[in-house]
Amino acid sequence: MPTSVVTGAAGFIGSHLAETLLQRGEQVIGIDQFNDYYDPSLKRKNVAALQQHPNFRLIEGDIQAQDWSSILESVDVIYHQAAQAGVRASWGKGFHDYTERNISATQILLEATKDAPKLRRFVHASTSSIYGDAETLPTTETMCPKPVSPYGITKLAAEQLGLLYQKNFGVPFVSLRYFTVYGPRQRPDMAFHKFFRAAMLDEAIAIYGDGQQTRDFTFVADAVAANLAAAEAPAGEAVGEIFNIGGGSRVVLAEVIDTMERIVGKPIQRQHIGQAMGDARHTAADVSKARSRLGYNPTVPLAEGLTQEWAWIQSLYS
Ligand SMILES: NC(=O)c1ccc[n+]([C@@H]2O[C@H](COP(=O)([O-])OP(=O)(O)OC[C@H]3O[C@@H](n4cnc5c(N)ncnc54)[C@H](O)[C@@H]3O)[C@@H](O)[C@H]2O)c1
Repeated sequence: MPTSVVTGAAGFIGSHLAETLLQRGEQVIGIDQFNDYYDPSLKRKNVAALQQHPNFRLIEGDIQAQDWSSILESVDVIYHQAAQAGVRASWGKGFHDYTERNISATQILLEATKDAPKLRRFVHASTSSIYGDAETLPTTETMCPKPVSPYGITKLAAEQLGLLYQKNFGVPFVSLRYFTVYGPRQRPDMAFHKFFRAAMLDEAIAIYGDGQQTRDFTFVADAVAANLAAAEAPAGEAVGEIFNIGGGSRVVLAEVIDTMERIVGKPIQRQHIGQAMGDARHTAADVSKARSRLGYNPTVPLAEGLTQEWAWIQSLYS
């Protein structure tokens, strides 16, 4: 039975990934520091069911403060999901958390993997924010990265570190650049979570800019499937590689809100505010590389994924 480490296991994507691994009969060591970037009680809820599972062990603490050589003794795969996410908070004083949690923590983990006896894959959660305002849409992995936020800079640095450790020490590193992930347990600072919560409370939603920005939205189960595929693909297909992980279609934000109105069954009041600094105007993933090398195939259409997120929001806030 393989043993995996999931960093950020109490977070949005990490908790889904840990759950899926346990369902597959794997042993999972989850690590999370439960920081207060958003309400830690939400993270406690994310991880509550996992903690009932006999094959799950939770390490509560900072990645940088662990004895990784003993943790990694029996570990086959690392899924490195922990990070300081969020584009807007990465300006100004908040930047320190981004360098610590995205760059320094990743370096500590990579350094430890050099001597991990059983490790066969290090799957890294990267982001479309690395591209910034990409010149070509849909964007391929060969596009020159030009982040437009400090967050994107730190995630690019983490990804580059991983590639360095792969080249110099043979760490079996593979990077997945997620494009806006959504679904149940989505972070409360993310748009769909905020929109559904506002709709529930009959409040107006704040839309940055004109609402004509486009995104490639990825349902969380598809992001999880990409992680499993990246862990299992032959080394020659995946190691040292970067893959775009998108939902398969590009959607205008204003149209997403129309779909949300149909799901919640009432109009959602919209309030347009200034454009957010650090937000890319458009994102769209060319996922053909992930398709051909990893067999990645996003399966959850937006309306279905949004319906699932709405059900979760209702149970969370009712
Ligand atoms: N959600 C998205 O749309 C999206 C898009 C692109 C990339 N990503 C990436 O996916 C990953 C997961 O994102 P998420 O939305 O689930 O975020 P999240 O904030 O819900 O989860 C991250 C978790 O990591 C933990 N953490 C952070 N630094 C840590 C450290 N040093 N030690 C221990 N725990 C630590 C946090 O407490 C948190 O619970 C991140 O790497 C993020 O950059 C997310």
